[in-house]
Amino acid sequence: NVGPHLSITIVGASGDLAKKKIFPALFALYYEDWLPENFIVFGYARTKMTDEELRNMISRTLTCRIDQRENCEDKMDRFLKRCFYHSGQYDSEEHFAELNRKLQEKEAGKLSNRLFYLSIPPNIFVNVVKCASLRASSTSGWTRVIVEKPFGRDSESSGELTRCLKLYLTEDQIFRIDHYLGKELVENLSVLRFSNLVFEPLWSRNYIRNVQLIFSEDFGTEGRGGYFDNYGIIRDIMQNHLLQILALFAMETPVSLDAEDIRNEKVKVLRSMRPLQLEDVAVGQYKGHSKGGKSYPAYTDDPTVPNNSLTPTFAAAALFINNARWDGVPFLMKAGKALHTKRAEIRVQFRHVPGNLYKRNFGTDLDKATNDLVLRVQPDEAIYLKINNKVPGLGMRLDRSDLNLLYRARYSREIPDAYERLLLDAVEGERRLFIRSDELDAAWALFTPLLKELEQKKIVPELYPYGSRGPVGAHYLAAKHNVRWGDLS
Ligand code: BG6
Repeated sequence: NVGPHLSITIVGASGDLAKKKIFPALFALYYEDWLPENFIVFGYARTKMTDEELRNMISRTLTCRIDQRENCEDKMDRFLKRCFYHSGQYDSEEHFAELNRKLQEKEAGKLSNRLFYLSIPPNIFVNVVKCASLRASSTSGWTRVIVEKPFGRDSESSGELTRCLKLYLTEDQIFRIDHYLGKELVENLSVLRFSNLVFEPLWSRNYIRNVQLIFSEDFGTEGRGGYFDNYGIIRDIMQNHLLQILALFAMETPVSLDAEDIRNEKVKVLRSMRPLQLEDVAVGQYKGHSKGGKSYPAYTDDPTVPNNSLTPTFAAAALFINNARWDGVPFLMKAGKALHTKRAEIRVQFRHVPGNLYKRNFGTDLDKATNDLVLRVQPDEAIYLKINNKVPGLGMRLDRSDLNLLYRARYSREIPDAYERLLLDAVEGERRLFIRSDELDAAWALFTPLLKELEQKKIVPELYPYGSRGPVGAHYLAAKHNVRWGDLS
């Protein structure tokens, strides 16, 4: 008995995300025997291609893990033989009916499950689910549909998208991906907190001064300007990736590890927050810059971006959670493109030690004596805690040292890509890392008034040079809340 048949159909198979992330993630899952014995992959897109051409296209992006080179070629061939292609329009019931017939042929009357990944622009999600009639699915098992942001541009458009999707799908068929939730360190956040006695008792306003969620990239919009200009960094990174991390970080202990229990707690955090206003943010946009004989373009040099675009490529924001645990603690977010480094991290700054006996050893800057816990999500995953330590020797000199858990030193295995974990969860029906519709609504409710104000008042972003540390506005914002950015100190 090999279990039910599984087909994974990638709608938008010739796109970038499919090539760079989805097919390689499926191969990695196959390689490590996570997928059911009886599975196939179907690509669907408008481009005309044969099965063989699809296989050629994806074979270029499949990789073997460093520790698993053995048999890799052979496994790749076997994986590719399970990949098929059907070319069709996204609004054609007839073309989807042809796909359905091909799927049925492969299923050969066996108990069959179907997973669809809509790797297409959201304005055609609804057309696709309608034309493919995914709810009244012609399969004997389950049908699930993965969708990926942008889920609208604000509360209204997101609500409308949800409403339309639900005409053709039930909520439990919809798997809304936020790929940051699939990252190893983000998943580890709950483990760290709920399975170590030393953290959870400190996890509140009593001991934590502020929390910083930082995302930076050292490249600009390169080629994605058309998409990006319509959304901006707040919609692209903050409203989803950073806010999801914040909710996981700040939630109360869930009743259990069940998806519904966790998501209930995350929604409560989001609903306990005050929607952002203009005074809670600083926005920026990168400008051209030359360094070391090389010149870097401004955001508006991108041919797909209007010359007078006011779209922020950088934003810093201060958020507050009005509940007993977090009252008054600033949660600062910072996200930017074309900065000096590529990094994503969570920084927790603890309070000062009351009546610190070693006060005089820290000079006038007592902030330098507080503990920081840092979860470096990427690159080079690590968790480290800054502590004060006596410098060995006579006399009494203190310095700050790190208790450092560096993943690459501690674990020999390569860390799976976020898409591997999320695809596997979707196959297994595990919804913990996917966004429920009320979470999505609550997330938009926080950001929509601000986004409208920024656009209506045509707020001009502060320019910062490509490759710099971002606009000074971010420092003023932090200073207003008595915070210093930990990544810059
Ligand atoms: C995407 C954004 O969601 O995340 C991109 O749309 C961004 O603008 C990307 O570059 C970053 O993802 P990662 O996994 O490379 O940090």
